[in-house]
Amino acid sequence: MKILGIESSADETAAAVVEDGNVLLSSVIASSLDLHTVYGGIVPEIAARSHIEVIIPVIEQALADAKSTWEQIDAIAVTQGPGLIGSLLIGVLTARTLAIAKDKPLFPVNHVLAHTYANFITGTPLPGYQLNKAAPEFPFLTLIVSGGHSQIMLYKSHKNYNILGQTRDDAVGEAFDKVAKILGLPYPGGPSIDLAAKTGDPQAIKLPKAKLDNSYDFSFSGLKTATLRAAQELVGKDYTFPSYELPKVLTAGQKADLAASFQKTAVETLADAMVRAESEFLPKAVLLAGGVAANQSLRNELKSRLKTPLLCPDIKLCTDNAAMIAAAAFYGHKQPADPYKLEVIPNLN
Ligand code: KG4
Ligand code: ZN
Repeated sequence: MKILGIESSADETAAAVVEDGNVLLSSVIASSLDLHTVYGGIVPEIAARSHIEVIIPVIEQALADAKSTWEQIDAIAVTQGPGLIGSLLIGVLTARTLAIAKDKPLFPVNHVLAHTYANFITGTPLPGYQLNKAAPEFPFLTLIVSGGHSQIMLYKSHKNYNILGQTRDDAVGEAFDKVAKILGLPYPGGPSIDLAAKTGDPQAIKLPKAKLDNSYDFSFSGLKTATLRAAQELVGKDYTFPSYELPKVLTAGQKADLAASFQKTAVETLADAMVRAESEFLPKAVLLAGGVAANQSLRNELKSRLKTPLLCPDIKLCTDNAAMIAAAAFYGHKQPADPYKLEVIPNLN
């Protein structure tokens, strides 16, 4: 079964063809990231306009790369939410129109759950992918860490899963983005912090880890504020010193130390929770997913502390892509949606 996946929940316009939920035949991603960088974050209106411009060429490229004609496509899967309403609308309306015009079943997909399914892609004729050797066995735990979400899920089967914990405030990717902004590092903050941290000392600044009773919930807003206070202190100022002045007065070395210390604390917080969940639920595998899963220090920390095998998608399948949408539809689909009625759900749980 060949599914064409379509993803447009944020600033990436993506289309992919995946066969039987595990063979990646194509994955095309056009990002409007460059247009947002000057603003330090995604501007929803710009993202939506960009999706309109590129979505049809992206889909055509995905079909061409997969050497597939429309006749060979069995179904269309599209991100229904959560995400930016204007962005989601472009993907969903395009998918609805194509489902009607090409007479294909249409499957709505939850973007956050779909991140897990990047780990089910185990084969591809395409060059340059490092994929898991086999599909994860149940039960497994997933740590989904992105710009909008930080949650631990327990999957007993494709249809039987629950959230063990989630962030009570900022998502971890959001914390990376905000700390990068404080340090004057370019957006998106995750890769910038990751890079700056390589030359910094992770022990230089002691930052607090949030302790939330015995739950699996996270909190990252305190860590972000503690990093801001540490930066103000490093330049000899107090909490009244404006954060937008900090990039000018911090030295490159101080920025690197702050980035490394923040990253170490964020990574340890996530790893502490996963180690605890592993010993309580005894999974057969632990999966990493979402944009922050691209972080090498998070991968290393989990690999060295977990007893269970750690599965990570290829870096290109960690950040937003449509292959995960097509794979998620294959394994989790229920009844196809009515292409005349499918609505976006920006705050989909
Ligand atoms: O999954 P994703 O592409 O979009 C959402 O669904 O949010 O994740 C984007 C997030 C951003 O916050 C970005 O800063 C973060 O993933 N990210 C990283 C890295 N690469 C991307 N965070 C830490 N280290 C990285 N190498
Ligand atoms: Zn995402």
